[in-house]
Amino acid sequence: MKDLLKLSLFGSFATAVAASSGDARLHARSSAPKCSNAPSTLSLSDPPYDNYFYSDCNVAAQAVVTSPLPQSNLSLIGPRLIVAWPAGDSGVCAYFAPQNGVNGTLSIEMVNSTAGQPLGPVYTAGSNSSAPPTVGVQGVLRFNASATLTVPILGSIRTIRDFVEGPSLLRSEIQDAIKFVAHNDGSASLQRTWLDNVTSTTLTFAPSNGTNNKVTVSNRTLVLPAGDYLFSASMNYPQLTVLKSAFVLNSASRNLTNTMPGQTAALSFLSYSEKLLAGAWRFLTYFGRDSMLSALLLEPVLSSGNASAMEAVIGAVLERVNRTDGSVCHEETIGDYATWTNLQNNITSNAMVCDYKMIDSDYYLPVLMQKYFLENPVGQKRAAAFFNTSAGLINAENQNLTWGQLSLINAERIMRLARPFAEKQTKENLIHLKDGQVVGEWRDSEYGIGGGRIPYDVNTALVPAALRSIAVLTRQGLYPKHKEWSNLATKYAQIWEDKTLDYFKVTIPKSKAQDLVASYKKESSFPGPDQATSITDDVVFHALALDGDSNLTKVEVMNTDDCFRHFLLNTTDDTQLTPFLNNSATNIRRTFPAGLMTSAGMIVANPAFGGDPVYAQNWTTGAYHGTVVWSWQLAMMAKGLELQLGRCELTSNFSVSRRETDKGTVAPIPAFCGDDSVYGNVKAAYNELWDVIEQNESQLSGEVWSWVYRDGGFQVTPLGVLPAPGGGSQTESDIRQLWSLAFLAVTRNADYK
Ligand SMILES: *[C@@H]1O[C@H](CO)[C@@H](O)[C@H](O)[C@H]1NC(C)=O
Ligand SMILES: *[C@@H]1O[C@H](CO)[C@@H](O)[C@H](O)[C@H]1NC(C)=O
Ligand SMILES: *[C@@H]1O[C@H](CO)[C@@H](O)[C@H](O)[C@H]1NC(C)=O
Ligand SMILES: *[C@@H]1O[C@H](CO)[C@@H](O)[C@H](O)[C@H]1NC(C)=O
Ligand SMILES: *[C@@H]1O[C@H](CO)[C@@H](O)[C@H](O)[C@H]1NC(C)=O
Ligand SMILES: *[C@@H]1O[C@H](CO)[C@@H](O)[C@H](O)[C@H]1NC(C)=O
Ligand SMILES: *[C@@H]1O[C@H](CO)[C@@H](O)[C@H](O)[C@H]1NC(C)=O
Ligand SMILES: *[C@@H]1O[C@H](CO)[C@@H](O)[C@H](O)[C@H]1NC(C)=O
Ligand SMILES: *[C@@H]1O[C@H](CO)[C@@H](O)[C@H](O)[C@H]1NC(C)=O
Ligand SMILES: *[C@@H]1O[C@H](CO)[C@@H](O)[C@H](O)[C@H]1NC(C)=O
Ligand SMILES: *[C@@H]1O[C@H](CO)[C@@H](O)[C@H](O)[C@H]1NC(C)=O
Ligand SMILES: *[C@@H]1O[C@H](CO)[C@@H](O)[C@H](O)[C@H]1NC(C)=O
Repeated sequence: MKDLLKLSLFGSFATAVAASSGDARLHARSSAPKCSNAPSTLSLSDPPYDNYFYSDCNVAAQAVVTSPLPQSNLSLIGPRLIVAWPAGDSGVCAYFAPQNGVNGTLSIEMVNSTAGQPLGPVYTAGSNSSAPPTVGVQGVLRFNASATLTVPILGSIRTIRDFVEGPSLLRSEIQDAIKFVAHNDGSASLQRTWLDNVTSTTLTFAPSNGTNNKVTVSNRTLVLPAGDYLFSASMNYPQLTVLKSAFVLNSASRNLTNTMPGQTAALSFLSYSEKLLAGAWRFLTYFGRDSMLSALLLEPVLSSGNASAMEAVIGAVLERVNRTDGSVCHEETIGDYATWTNLQNNITSNAMVCDYKMIDSDYYLPVLMQKYFLENPVGQKRAAAFFNTSAGLINAENQNLTWGQLSLINAERIMRLARPFAEKQTKENLIHLKDGQVVGEWRDSEYGIGGGRIPYDVNTALVPAALRSIAVLTRQGLYPKHKEWSNLATKYAQIWEDKTLDYFKVTIPKSKAQDLVASYKKESSFPGPDQATSITDDVVFHALALDGDSNLTKVEVMNTDDCFRHFLLNTTDDTQLTPFLNNSATNIRRTFPAGLMTSAGMIVANPAFGGDPVYAQNWTTGAYHGTVVWSWQLAMMAKGLELQLGRCELTSNFSVSRRETDKGTVAPIPAFCGDDSVYGNVKAAYNELWDVIEQNESQLSGEVWSWVYRDGGFQVTPLGVLPAPGGGSQTESDIRQLWSLAFLAVTRNADYK
């Protein structure tokens, strides 16, 4: 993604900016509460998408203006305006078509005006003191040609995504509720009352001053002659509480607002005291895995204490734990889509709905709790009050429980699921995806883990890491009901750490590996060199998952999920750790298709060693979890390698391994530290990874990107422009994702240069 970053963190205009003319209804801003800080704004251009963020103490919103480029595929990219609010995960969407019927002749753009630069706030007090105000954003939209508003969607971002990403799905009970109104002054509005019968969303277009244009309503469309229009998008759902930049970061990290202003502004836009949001605009709400992974990586810079970013993440997760079985909620459904979802189950309710299909999220929770409540001095002091917090304010299902009790229910789940394998080490006793689900961990797309039932990251890293944390949390008194866990969880953890890797291990003899990269080059039409000569020994890696589709007993895709063990565990079995680190480093260092490295970044999946042609077909440069680069995986791998190298610095009076500190003994220095060739290989992998991270700095705040091989090299290319495997449609990427901001905290350690 090429971002043209334009930023005014503390914007130059006052809270309430009066537009000089247009429809008076647009500017009714009856005494908006004064904000103590100027609004935060952020403009990010990613053609054909222009993104604008606006937030102040009354409203937070993002606007996305899409306008086709000369090279755009006009059947996929049409002129579109989206305004999205984190509050209620709600939004409005309007598709426009040129009135002359010739696609590509209509372009739209947001321009600065007295109404906003380009966005300004909209505020009308509620009808009574308990009714939420109507809030939103306004700005001027310029149409180069006469346009028809063809498809409006008002309500939930999820409803908009069902149309944008799904098979253009529109639901009559939502669409038919839109009211079209033409006003005397030439403006026109679209308004819809939500299924809750209380909230309403309004989108208005008013001809800009100085034009004689008139917006007309015709057959449930709007017709807008060429020109400038003041638009206003507003709704009256209660807003979240923004955590301002200064309160998102801890005091030692405040200067990041000067050194990395774009990333801190994005982090602030995604941070609220109730929760951190996963991404803008498509995932503008709670996601368990995204927020916990982000908090684990960002912990060194995030604020701690009451109403802090760290507590927003952990509190949001605990609030949403399934009280019956301890599962962590993956994604929440709130606002209008929650009412709609409940209706599908014949329930009349606006209550939020949680999706519990992911299996990995359960295990991040104890690890994050240890990091904050045991290792962070502020968190230590907060533990008692925090765990006493009553649940149920946001998720009514969890009324009458405390966050502490919900954490216990989650830990009980983990102990229950970990036990069978701890007692009897068989493949059947490894953790499987939930029945009926085809996804369950971070590679949660159709081709992510190849239909595998038993994922690598969960079984070899997340389960043992969670068990270690449960042991330590128990020893510190968090689970008095289960004093036995102090030893039992440690015992389980040791077995899960030491006995799981072998199930996933793939060893390919040197000459076979060389043949495989050569045949992969042909099958995938990869135009670059096959790198066979760089393979100087057997190739060893760990399968993405076991029991995959297409009859694969192991999904033999080389991958980056080693980073979870590097980042989350200090394993002690040297006969396993030394070769594991060595092979992991070698695979990182080798150039694709012999390894994971490209000049566009380290790719998350390399199917070249699978053999079966299905690998080259399914893990492509156009697949979401294919031969593509994910920002947060670069960060976790870099941090993980640094942590492992750090173990070599330990001395007899500097014991930092959690487990050992806990027992008051000395942390052993791993054997690989004394093996110059392995240590050197890991250090070289660390540095070569950082070199490529630095070369791709402009990409790092994006979610995922791909490449094409051209002019003798890997050229960065947005994933969205490449065809998806199997002819599926490509998804629009989020301009900002929470976990792609990890490089605020993950930096290169010069000691290892
Ligand atoms: C014109 O745009 C519409 C809406 O985006 C689309 O459905 C249609 O396929 C396009 N027509 C052509 C010829 O590209
Ligand atoms: C109204 O006109 C003035 C003067 O031309 C211009 O500066 C301003 O941006 C316009 N306002 C809007 C909302 O278009
Ligand atoms: C709009 O205003 C913003 C904030 O003042 C400024 O950074 C930006 O360059 C302006 N855009 C244009 C196109 O003038
Ligand atoms: C909204 O009002 C309709 C009609 O009165 C009613 O059937 C429906 O149950 C109400 N919905 C909610 C969520 O209260
Ligand atoms: C109104 O729109 C509908 C659906 O697009 C179309 O079938 C109908 O012919 C239109 N009616 C008029 C009067 O244009
Ligand atoms: C930011 O603050 C930290 C801690 O106060 C300090 O170590 C660092 O040098 C500062 N960085 C800059 C660029 O000012
Ligand atoms: C919580 O877990 C129980 C047991 O697995 C399940 O029956 C229930 O449907 C889950 N609750 C929700 C809201 O999904
Ligand atoms: C909801 O009620 C309708 C009509 O009674 C019924 O056909 C449908 O199966 C019910 N749906 C669910 C999920 O219970
Ligand atoms: C919480 O307790 C109250 C009072 O006993 C009861 O009415 C309510 O149903 C309980 N809520 C849940 C979710 O169990
Ligand atoms: C590969 O893709 C095909 C077609 O989409 C699918 O049926 C098959 O299950 C996939 N196989 C694997 C291992 O992902
Ligand atoms: C999987 O194996 C079964 C039984 O050996 C065979 O019938 C089937 O065709 C195989 N499927 C694929 C996709 O290779
Ligand atoms: C692993 O050891 C390092 C010290 O090198 C320490 O910083 C880190 O917290 C330890 N991690 C775990 C999970 O114990």
